Amino acid sequence: MTAYNPAEAQATIDRVRRVLKNPPVAATRQSESARTGAKSGGRDVNFATLPEYEVINLAKAVGHLAGLEDPYFRLHDGLARETTSLNGRQVVNFSSYDYLGLNGHPDVVAAAKAAIDQYGTSVSASRLTAGERQVHRDLEAALARIHDAEAAISFVSGHATNVSVIGGLLGPEDLIVTDVSIHNSVTEGAKLSGAKRILCPHGDLEAIERALRLNRSRYRRTLIVVEGLYGMDGDVPDLAQLIKLKRRYSAWLMVDEAHSLGVLGATGRGIAEEQDIDPSDVDIWMGTLSKTLVAAGGYIAGARPLIELLKFTSPSFVYSVGTPPPVAAAATAALGVMQRESWRLKKLRQNGRNFAALATARGLDIGLSIGASIIPVIVGSSPHAVILSQRLLERGYNLFPAIFPGVAENQARLRFFMTSRHSIEQIEGVIDAIATELPGIRSGPSFVNTIAGIDV
Ligand SMILES: Cc1ncc(COP(=O)(O)O)c(C=O)c1O
Repeated sequence: MTAYNPAEAQATIDRVRRVLKNPPVAATRQSESARTGAKSGGRDVNFATLPEYEVINLAKAVGHLAGLEDPYFRLHDGLARETTSLNGRQVVNFSSYDYLGLNGHPDVVAAAKAAIDQYGTSVSASRLTAGERQVHRDLEAALARIHDAEAAISFVSGHATNVSVIGGLLGPEDLIVTDVSIHNSVTEGAKLSGAKRILCPHGDLEAIERALRLNRSRYRRTLIVVEGLYGMDGDVPDLAQLIKLKRRYSAWLMVDEAHSLGVLGATGRGIAEEQDIDPSDVDIWMGTLSKTLVAAGGYIAGARPLIELLKFTSPSFVYSVGTPPPVAAAATAALGVMQRESWRLKKLRQNGRNFAALATARGLDIGLSIGASIIPVIVGSSPHAVILSQRLLERGYNLFPAIFPGVAENQARLRFFMTSRHSIEQIEGVIDAIATELPGIRSGPSFVNTIAGIDV
């Protein structure tokens, strides 16, 4: 740790104040000339002076002054499961969303290897032209069955699925109503569409109803988007109520199941199974292959006309290469294991319940989490969350802090991704470590607390 320098600390505190007053999200909404600086007449081509870059440097400066290691881009030496090796050091891992512990499962690995042997590592073309392979069809048929849907389409990226599908289905004459906690990929898709966007407070059905009542009649198409299990908070929406609303206001309902596939419902088929909803009442089921299915990519499941439409019009399907064969085969194999080895889901949910109960008993704030696969521990300030993450690493736990501007400054947190492979000892151990460290961090060195206490 470098020597503490009060002048440097004060300058950094002033910079933090400035950035918190005018965060980069706001900066990106300013006109281009305001954003790039009046001095250069809006012609600044220097990446180093971009306000967004200042935020990154500022976070590093704060960390440096507080004696913290950079929590980003930690290098994992091999297969990261409930434990992982970081630079040769074995730690307990709560940062990977391999909910059912399927990464490295022999059936999944064998399927990926067999697909490479048969098709190679790439399909070397868009599916529409020369890229279609049987592994894609097998995957899509399996995904459609999971959602009881007529058909499904897979994309090479989960993020690009939301961007491309929402950005393509809606336009400037349309309305998109989302929960404020919705994933960035939905927000980017909505921006791309040019549609009127209304963000409703998290979980607030009355706000969604109001948004539809006051605005629906002025727009052509309307889309409501929610997550089946929210990635930041680990809670669920009330699907039955949302279905009533979408019917009343003739809207489409889209549910992003990135974190709920393999996690919710008696057999892991997601929120429809969990809440006993007819899946055909949801217009657009979206999911990712990157979480429970230990691959990469995204998908949409729904009515055949929707899937056909996307196959011919969705830019990141039409103009992008098809999913690599080992990736598609791994995801299909993972779906099979998920259904065959039902003990995994039971163990995951047990782990989630245990974690939530033990954390709450120790006075930790898990926010709205239902105690399934995602459980935040809300610390309340970004510096404290980063320090806690480092202290936990020193004690042998790998946890990633979610900090401002990803979440509101007073909502900074550590996010726990539970897996079926975690043991009760690992869960008890990390909760004990947090409960032991947190009070000391909160009453810790004044520099960090000045940063943490800045009022926005
Ligand atoms: C809710 C949600 N949707 C979409 C995505 C994007 O998926 P992917 O990481 O597979 O691109 C994520 C990623 O974390 C997510 O949490």
